[in-house]
Amino acid sequence: MAIEIEVPSVGLSKVAVSETHGEDSPYFAGWKAYDEDPYNESSNPSGVIQMGLAENQVSFDLLEEYLGEHSEASIWGKGSPRFRENALFQDYHGLKSFRQEMAGFMEQVRGGRAKFDPDRLVLTAGATAANELLTFILANPGDALLVPTPYYPGFDRDLRWRTGAKIVPVHTESSNNFQVTTQALEDAYERAVAMNINVRGVLITNPSNPLGATTQRSVLEDILDFSTRKNIHLVSDEIYSGSTFYSSEFTSIAEILEARGYKDSERVHIVYSLSKDLGLPGFRVGTIYSYNDKVVTTARRMSSFTLISSQTQHLLASILSDKKFTESYIKANRERLRKRYEMIIQGLRNAGIECLKGNAGLFCWMNLSPLLETPTREGEVALWKSILHEVKLNISPGSSCHCSEPGWFRVCFANMSEETLETALKRIHNFMEQRKTASI
Ligand SMILES: Cc1ncc(COP(=O)(O)O)c(C=O)c1O
Repeated sequence: MAIEIEVPSVGLSKVAVSETHGEDSPYFAGWKAYDEDPYNESSNPSGVIQMGLAENQVSFDLLEEYLGEHSEASIWGKGSPRFRENALFQDYHGLKSFRQEMAGFMEQVRGGRAKFDPDRLVLTAGATAANELLTFILANPGDALLVPTPYYPGFDRDLRWRTGAKIVPVHTESSNNFQVTTQALEDAYERAVAMNINVRGVLITNPSNPLGATTQRSVLEDILDFSTRKNIHLVSDEIYSGSTFYSSEFTSIAEILEARGYKDSERVHIVYSLSKDLGLPGFRVGTIYSYNDKVVTTARRMSSFTLISSQTQHLLASILSDKKFTESYIKANRERLRKRYEMIIQGLRNAGIECLKGNAGLFCWMNLSPLLETPTREGEVALWKSILHEVKLNISPGSSCHCSEPGWFRVCFANMSEETLETALKRIHNFMEQRKTASI
């Protein structure tokens, strides 16, 4: 007999019932539409193609091949002391060997231009946990972080939901390729002050999600100077640092600190994870690298809530210690992403669509503003809905990234095969042709 469950009358916490999880945005609604009708070349060729997920699947074969040839990295025999050691290991410092390799990999993806001390590295279950954990440490409930728009929609959840912190958007404009200006930072700061909100820091992503572009060195210098002037923190989420098409076009905040002799570095914290560069979001491997001793100690204590399994640390320490492999992987991954980027940019251009010039990441930032019936957020969402339901493509509207100009969309290109990307481009091409015909 089925158990009948009454409508619950028992209350839940403020956090549990709060809306700040942000999951009611089109960003997540699009994922649901995909889950209900997923495209498959043979079994569901008219299904929804998922272009709203920043996953990197273009280099899986390289990791699979490596693991096939190095089974010792993942197999532990009966009675192996390694098995027993790892089964019991839960120290929040993490495996020393893994921290060393992770620091080395972070240096490698920056072309050796930055140095990382493994003792300053705190391990977390992905960048999601790293960003939340840092917010817990830097801000009290009600305090704010300034975040340049457009920004990764997950930040609404990660920075706000459980911490009670706020995001104050720093607006950027297409006329300036959405680069952050000191004036925009000052304006956002003043807006927060006018609302009686205490600003505790600036959080940037570099290379930027959703723009797919690196931040210019001079802009980074300005942001660092601004944070110093206001005496606030600067968090640089550099999760895509190894997914830049050309390493020389990326400047890490770590390089700027080094050039300045680490002056004022105690306000700077870097977030990184292997979710994008190695394409392993399911492994949940992230880090906080802080130049502030107190933040390192506190983050390490707090990381008890979001540890990485010792088995995963062990496996990745083994992979990352093979410098010959990591070097060729990073090189091949960059080339493959650049090729994909060029393929999508060209395909969109052939359909009459322009994108922001990109040089990194797993997505491009596409301008569909000429197609809007009304140049508003509502007009953008209406266009997004017709692309989702008629063209059967899930892309992310700029408004879900808090972009201040309507008509921009983030389109992911590395979470599918080249054939699927071609199908998606054909669908966009046909959609644009139909629009042209309809407007004649
Ligand atoms: C800028 C940014 N930060 C953090 C994350 C979350 O990454 P992770 O899977 O490591 O939690 C993402 C994922 O899309 C991201 O784009």
